[in-house]
Amino acid sequence: MPLRRFIPLLAAALLLALVGCAGQRSVTVIKLAHTLDQSHPVHVAMAYFGERLAAMSGGTMRVELYSGGQLGSERECIELLQLGGLGMTKISSSALEGFAPEYRVFGLPYLFRDEAHRWAVLNGLVGREVLLSAESRFLRGLCYYDAGTRNFYTVNRRVEKPEDLAGLKIRIQESQLALKMVRALGAAATPIAFAELYTALQQGVVDGAENNPPSFHLSRHYELCKYYVLDEHTAVPDVLLISAHLWRTLTPQQQAWVQAAADESSVRQRELWTAATAASLAAVKKAGVEVIIPDKNLFRARVVSMQAEVARDQPRIGALAQRVRETIP
Ligand code: GCU
Repeated sequence: MPLRRFIPLLAAALLLALVGCAGQRSVTVIKLAHTLDQSHPVHVAMAYFGERLAAMSGGTMRVELYSGGQLGSERECIELLQLGGLGMTKISSSALEGFAPEYRVFGLPYLFRDEAHRWAVLNGLVGREVLLSAESRFLRGLCYYDAGTRNFYTVNRRVEKPEDLAGLKIRIQESQLALKMVRALGAAATPIAFAELYTALQQGVVDGAENNPPSFHLSRHYELCKYYVLDEHTAVPDVLLISAHLWRTLTPQQQAWVQAAADESSVRQRELWTAATAASLAAVKKAGVEVIIPDKNLFRARVVSMQAEVARDQPRIGALAQRVRETIP
């Protein structure tokens, strides 16, 4: 049988496997996989999503959470959603760049003016449009989670200005924009899956990486990286995704419950985020990490041309970026 015809059959079989039976009652069980630690505020929010969905559906819908990359990397989870082998995932918007180009807009450095601007965009028309942009590629976005701002951390070298990054090998997500940005800052970029990064840092495959404080802390990368520079180069959100294969098997009522529970979990996650960020910064400092507050303008100046470059080479993304800039909280 040609692969093209086999894939929908496989998807249907796997989706049926997602629907279990509890006694006489049929219960829809949704598997939700991601790469973060269970104490991460994003995981806590997804556990809340599960609770709310169970409550709203009177126990007829249930979420099974798989954390820490148990079911694969972000790329693998996205591919499983497209095939219908996994119901839901939570990924960083950067991981979607190769699958759904619209998400690239969020990978532009220093795109958002501040947190209020970021949330006005994510909760507004642009945010909604991007979430729904990949439905034809079987990836339906439900909501965003706060992933704060991303900052560099390094094993041995103290970084305070872009010149200090020169020659360092920095791990990046699978993202063309991250690649361009790290190169513009003078470092060499190496894409590595998040779950493999601890070992890569330990073995000297890379000299550093970049992430928000809770992920830096809860991945235990701070055990190896003793410098953390808060240059806040990007503010890439996390995204909760459902496979369009699964979405289409749900009744309109079930779809409404899933969307409402996701929206509530997004609000809850933002409430948890600020405290989690402060606690993570305090914890890494206590463990001996030097947290450096640099002059962000030095970093911004090195990457500012990326906005014009993207507008020239990818007009659709340029137009989205323009709408982001015009958004007023
Ligand atoms: C963030 C994000 C994760 C992602 C990670 C990464 O922590 O929340 O989903 O895996 O960045 O750098 O890969």
